[in-house]
Amino acid sequence: MTTLVETIAGVRQAVARARQRGLTIGLVPTMGALHEGHGALLRQARDENGLVVASLFVNPIQFNRSDDFEKYPRTLQTDLEYCQRLHADVLFAPSAGEMYPAQQLSFVEVAELGEGLCGASRPGHFRGVATVVAKLLNIVQPDRAYFGEKDAQQLAVLTRMVADLNFACTVVRVATVREADGLAMSSRNVRLTAKERQMAPAVYEALLATAAELRAGRDVESAKRAAGLVLEKFPEFRVEYLEVVDAETLRPVERMDRPVLVITAVWLESVRLIDNLRCDPR
Ligand code: PAF
Repeated sequence: MTTLVETIAGVRQAVARARQRGLTIGLVPTMGALHEGHGALLRQARDENGLVVASLFVNPIQFNRSDDFEKYPRTLQTDLEYCQRLHADVLFAPSAGEMYPAQQLSFVEVAELGEGLCGASRPGHFRGVATVVAKLLNIVQPDRAYFGEKDAQQLAVLTRMVADLNFACTVVRVATVREADGLAMSSRNVRLTAKERQMAPAVYEALLATAAELRAGRDVESAKRAAGLVLEKFPEFRVEYLEVVDAETLRPVERMDRPVLVITAVWLESVRLIDNLRCDPR
């Protein structure tokens, strides 16, 4: 049975009761519209903790476009049912007024890691993400917090924030969950038209093609051309970036002589899809 909790005091009380019983706490931060990607986070949290708290908050300060914020799917009732099925104990779904009762003047900024890739086209995005996750970690004080590898840059930013600011919490990374045709699961996929949904798996195919070239010893520029060949079959794609970056620093590399991420953001009409693939040198 999942208890819906809408206040900070309420979730702190639930956590305090669990602590008294000697339970560990796992937090799965989400913005709702839950799918199997979140399911993987919730399942792992369930396996590893005594109390599982999922949070659902569409965080206004991480959106740099108001239309994106407004169009973000909001499905509280089905999300609550999903949490019940996966045996989460608490769904913490605060209002914007509960999370930001006054104008927010304090922010968490993770330099460098949050600046390139998605950070370049979404100014302030990672500052908004880091700030809200810092608030959630302070509110819930979990032993472990779970994030998906699909949002690789977010994961890098939050891992660094937790280390730099000494949060007493372990960041647990969970592998990307894909549809049968390879498309990475995302809450934004529901906004794809039927035709766009058919084209969307080409994003992952482009990453696979790039990774195959890197593994065959090609340099990054030649490997990226392989991605271009896949994506140019569909003029509907607008590639925001497709890069090969160091898996830890997220800085662009020219050759794969250490673990890298092939990472991309692609637009299909008004839907922005992101994905990445880790590739290790032999
Ligand atoms: O990945 C998300 O859903 C969000 O960025 C997060 C981590 C819940 C912060 O709002």
